[in-house]
Amino acid sequence: MTDATFPENEFDSHTTRSSAPLIRVRDLTKTFGEQTVLDRLSLDVMQGETMVVMGGSGCGKSTFLRLLIGSLSPTSGSVELFGHDLSQQSEASLSQIKQQFGILFQSGALFNSMTVAENVALPMLEHSGVDPSVVAIQVKIKLEQVGLREHASKLPSQISGGMKKRAGLARALMLDPKILFYDEPSAGLDPVTSAEIDQLILRLSRELGVTSVVVTHEMNSAFTIADRMCMLDKGCALMIGASEDFDRLRTLTSAETSTLTESQLIVRQFLRGEADGPLTARRSADDYLDDLQVREASRIVVGSGGA
Ligand SMILES: Nc1ncnc2c1ncn2[C@@H]1O[C@H](COP(=O)(O)OP(=O)(O)OP(=O)(O)O)[C@@H](O)[C@H]1O
Ligand SMILES: [Mg+2]
Repeated sequence: MTDATFPENEFDSHTTRSSAPLIRVRDLTKTFGEQTVLDRLSLDVMQGETMVVMGGSGCGKSTFLRLLIGSLSPTSGSVELFGHDLSQQSEASLSQIKQQFGILFQSGALFNSMTVAENVALPMLEHSGVDPSVVAIQVKIKLEQVGLREHASKLPSQISGGMKKRAGLARALMLDPKILFYDEPSAGLDPVTSAEIDQLILRLSRELGVTSVVVTHEMNSAFTIADRMCMLDKGCALMIGASEDFDRLRTLTSAETSTLTESQLIVRQFLRGEADGPLTARRSADDYLDDLQVREASRIVVGSGGA
């Protein structure tokens, strides 16, 4: 197996396409204090495609999403949406850009004191001075799209977790976004509800042509919805490629893995959810090294204190 079969990072090949990417990330770095969470990450998302971002817990997926939506600023590097570098925009033009994308937060992020319909109406009431009767019709259309129209007058506490996600999605759709960002859309849902959310994401992509970035580590969901996938590891993109490439890597037998690179073996272990492999071996080695370093550091402090 060669790297040509499983491209480690294929964003370069997309720069030769005639259509510009809708999302263009270049050398994106984000540090919090001493910790580098993202390290010169580059990624393109083309119009109409669904990009699934995955990686171990704490690897920086949500941080990446927050940088993509402009709620965090990069330490260095850039995020362009619709050809506009987010860090170069005035507040007014940033607000215009933000009206063109929707976000589905992990919890649904609904206001508990407002009905489902009132929650869904919010983006339109906030942004665009539209007649309330038009807002009401748009709310009905969006609730129908996600299958919640008959629950419009319920409070968030009166609906299930899956329905909250769908309500959050209806709200994200209110301004007819060109891009939808999802953070763990199926986390905490039963398999059937999770599959329903996947079908909804697929339908939005196919019928409305919405471009999507979906953070998830639910593998069934990832392979159902993704056109392409990006696996994050240690702040970098370990592999970016078509979901078929990831699927082939996932389904290789052990006997077929002898020519895989270390990165490909790590991705394969993650995709297969296996307890043993280079990912876990590296993690325990890292922990041990950290542990030794902490002990070494404390020995020095104790030593110099006593001097
Ligand atoms: N505002 C912040 N200040 C300091 N550190 C932060 C901040 N936000 C995130 N981090 C750190 O960045 C790292 C990545 O966090 P992030 O939430 O992006 O991970 P994740 O991949 O989304 O994890 P999970 O799968 O558990 O949701 C973590 O170590 C976290 O502690
Ligand atoms: Mg997260």
